Amino acid sequence: MKRRRGSANEASRLAKRAGQATLVLIKPDAIQRGLTGHVLARLDEARLSMIGAKIVRVTRALAEEHYDALRDKPFFPDLIRHLCGELHGVDHVLAFVYAGPGAIAKVRQLAGATNPEAAEPASIRGAFGRMTTGGIMENVLHASSDEQEAVREIALWFRPEELLRPVPFLTSGAVGRSPKGTR
Ligand code: TYD
Repeated sequence: MKRRRGSANEASRLAKRAGQATLVLIKPDAIQRGLTGHVLARLDEARLSMIGAKIVRVTRALAEEHYDALRDKPFFPDLIRHLCGELHGVDHVLAFVYAGPGAIAKVRQLAGATNPEAAEPASIRGAFGRMTTGGIMENVLHASSDEQEAVREIALWFRPEELLRPVPFLTSGAVGRSPKGTR
């Protein structure tokens, strides 16, 4: 009995410490330009815990599901080609889950504005991103925008057993529901 209560307390303590979780993708433009180490070093500044990390070959189905909300945008086809690595001759992205208090806002703050030209020069996108002459935003990384998106995206890119520890707001059952064949 005692031991069971102890492990429940330990689980609760770990869950509280985990706080929020957010998905980060290092996009093909960054991989092709050798920026992975720079981006990870900048993300370390948030003092969050990395609880998931993997290299992923991005299928069209996965890219389209990830950017599902943008399907009607004129830039959607280029966005999908970008994430699939077709514009940079890269066949993978790096995916991470960071956890800790305020994780989503902290990573968004470090990432900077969507448009690299509008992003703070000190932010990751401001420092390393660029607009191509073709109008494609090479903005280096993806970072979840809010809790709902973070839950959806983490479930899309990671299986529960690929995360070092459970995250409180992922216990709703969202994890594990990924469209067939996307991960
Ligand atoms: P969005 O989710 O609005 O931004 P963020 O990545 O900052 O959460 O857009 C997703 C991606 O779509 C963005 O990273 C780059 C691309 N994009 C364009 O190519 N053109 C645009 O006008 C916008 C708004 C986004």
